[in-house]
Amino acid sequence: MAAFDVPAAARTLLEGNWREGDDRGRHYAFSVPSPRSYPWQWYWDSCFHAIVRSRYDGAKARAELQTLLTAMRDDGFIGHTVLWGHPLDVRRAVRYNIASRADLMTSTIQPPILAWAWSLAVGDPGEDPAIKAALDRHHGWLRANRDLDGDGLLWLIQPDESGMDASPKFDHVWGVQAQGRPLFPTLIHANRRRAFDARRVQAARRPVVCEVLTNVLWTLSEQALGRPSMTGRLVERLWDERAGRFFDDVRGARRPTPGPARPATWDTLAPLALPDLPDAIADRLIDEVLLTPRFADGVPLPAVALDDPAHSSRETWWGRHRHWRGPSWVNSAWLVSLGLRRRGRHELADAMAQRLVDVVAREGFREYYESRTGAGMGAHDFGWSTLLWELVDPRAATTGGGAPETGS
Ligand code: GLC
Repeated sequence: MAAFDVPAAARTLLEGNWREGDDRGRHYAFSVPSPRSYPWQWYWDSCFHAIVRSRYDGAKARAELQTLLTAMRDDGFIGHTVLWGHPLDVRRAVRYNIASRADLMTSTIQPPILAWAWSLAVGDPGEDPAIKAALDRHHGWLRANRDLDGDGLLWLIQPDESGMDASPKFDHVWGVQAQGRPLFPTLIHANRRRAFDARRVQAARRPVVCEVLTNVLWTLSEQALGRPSMTGRLVERLWDERAGRFFDDVRGARRPTPGPARPATWDTLAPLALPDLPDAIADRLIDEVLLTPRFADGVPLPAVALDDPAHSSRETWWGRHRHWRGPSWVNSAWLVSLGLRRRGRHELADAMAQRLVDVVAREGFREYYESRTGAGMGAHDFGWSTLLWELVDPRAATTGGGAPETGS
């Protein structure tokens, strides 16, 4: 059998998912995450697509990120999902965070990775004054609306804002209203009544979360805009030295649970993607979490430790949307591999990449994979799983400086 050609397969998928057109007087151009399951533009998916696409088509990579800026409101807000081309159907309208079905965007956010993605896919945003101004405005909205304590870190009002929708790490926070649990639509309804305004949510003593992955990607984006690093603040607030793990800071939880008693989820490893994470912390994350069988035995990278009681690959009748309760995701593997490569642990990163190549060659680019067998799960033709190309052929800019390598 011929070896699986990762670049060729990735290009075919991203081009097949490409959509271009005009809506409300604006031009859009981007890849849908998956033609059948996700037929619109998702904020962080588009950022991952652009990173991969920049290896062979810089202009279209830029266009995909530009499309997010085209959707941006004057005040700098960009929604989690941008509904280009056709409105939501009634069935999805219950689960999506829209104020009205006529809206162009949902009213919640996704991890603010855009400025960092721009720096990887296009180049230093500082070299283009109009782009820099637009990204600054976007960050301004996030700071004004989500930096609840004024220390630079962002807070979330719903689990899906983290990108890790139904992660069991949110169950203690939102209880039966957590995502993947039956009453999630009532959380959306309650937040809609508060105009998805984090300060109003907090004032009503409803849960707000200073979440690990969101703040890692936010820190990378702030750095991409030339702002001071917030890694120190992130460590100060979210690192538990005794447990050797990062935990979300939570207010208003339904069943408040101390960090070490919460499910062991992969995002504790996400800070490895930060270039300035202290080595002592990085080493502990690698040796005490990543390399233990609970993560290392799984297809890279299980969303929840294999032996954790919360780990589950089941889909339930009342909701197919049990994402992030167990199975493995390529974007997580990629973010962690950045930290491994930066620390010279190339063998480890290569082994993760190879394991995923074998799985994807067999199963195709699926949304996520059963952590033990690698069986493909969720959506088909899933865009960000093409980050596999980044895993097998890392670019210099993410391994310790220098210009991005161009792929073949
Ligand atoms: C799921 C994922 C989310 C992603 C979306 C589109 O909701 O949890 O992170 O952006 O699908 O792929």
